[in-house]
Amino acid sequence: MTYKSTLMKAACVAVSVMFLAMGDASAKRFKIAVGDAGGSAQHELGKKFVEELKRLSGGKHKAKLFLNGALGSEQDTVNDAALGTLDMSILAINNITPFSPTVGVFTLPYVILSLDDAVKLTQGPIGQELVKNTIRDAKVRIIGWTYTGFRVLTNSKKPIKTVADLKGVVVRVPKNEIMLDTYKSWGINATPMAWSETFTALQQKVVDGQDNPYLTVHSMKFYEVQKYVTNIRYIFSIEPLIVSEELYQGLSKKDQDILIEAGMLATKHSANYLRESEASIKADLIKRGMEISDPADGEKEFIDLATKAVWPKFYESIGGKDKLDNVLKTLGRM
Ligand code: MLT
Repeated sequence: MTYKSTLMKAACVAVSVMFLAMGDASAKRFKIAVGDAGGSAQHELGKKFVEELKRLSGGKHKAKLFLNGALGSEQDTVNDAALGTLDMSILAINNITPFSPTVGVFTLPYVILSLDDAVKLTQGPIGQELVKNTIRDAKVRIIGWTYTGFRVLTNSKKPIKTVADLKGVVVRVPKNEIMLDTYKSWGINATPMAWSETFTALQQKVVDGQDNPYLTVHSMKFYEVQKYVTNIRYIFSIEPLIVSEELYQGLSKKDQDILIEAGMLATKHSANYLRESEASIKADLIKRGMEISDPADGEKEFIDLATKAVWPKFYESIGGKDKLDNVLKTLGRM
């Protein structure tokens, strides 16, 4: 070996040792806020995203989930991500609507009527437009979609089958105008409240009821404080994974692609998880003492009141009546 090549080799070894000691400065350790508890649909999507992020980046990037609202209420996490003080969050779409009103089209009552509808809308051009709007309006980018199922109504007072049964029941809803107006169309003033305060409010009977999907009712242990369930199907819950747009723009193209791919794989996993787990979770809620009933008359009264009063009221905020028409056409209902 020549003197020159020995020197070169020594220099290479020194550089490698230096990099090892410093670590790779571009390796990320993302913090992901999760509104719901362990075992939830949000948690399932989050776990799959973390796993895929690590795999696709060859172990370079990692992420940690902070469950149960540990990093703040769902609506606060949108602000934090917009400001760049939080990396990512998984939260119900109704908690993004106040910051990005056009996504309200997915919260309008009785628009999404099945998991297939939800997948079709979020994975097609309408979903892509809403991703763009949310970057523009809320400074966060949706990179994954949790599908959690219909928001059924639970309460601790009595079985509810008709709109009239709602009288005298205090129902908590997210701070979301569309949901407040929906309950108004059914004759009651619901109580807007942050998700992070909901379990305690139900436990202390500050409110009697709330609505969320079976998977959420189960993971949040609402069966400990709620007895009656009504299978209303007014909103199919979609719970996006959002990333701070500031953070996203600071990544290399390769890392941006990894995030998008990991989000897509987690989204697919979420749909499968709902298909595979909803029936057994519902059965377990019954085993734990919940009484489940269907609304009278195939929910006609609930549907008629809500669609008539609420849809026209929000045409403007979702970007015009044609936006809703486009959704209904895409779903073959117009
Ligand atoms: C809410 O009711 O505020 C949300 O749907 C809760 C959730 O994210 O599961």
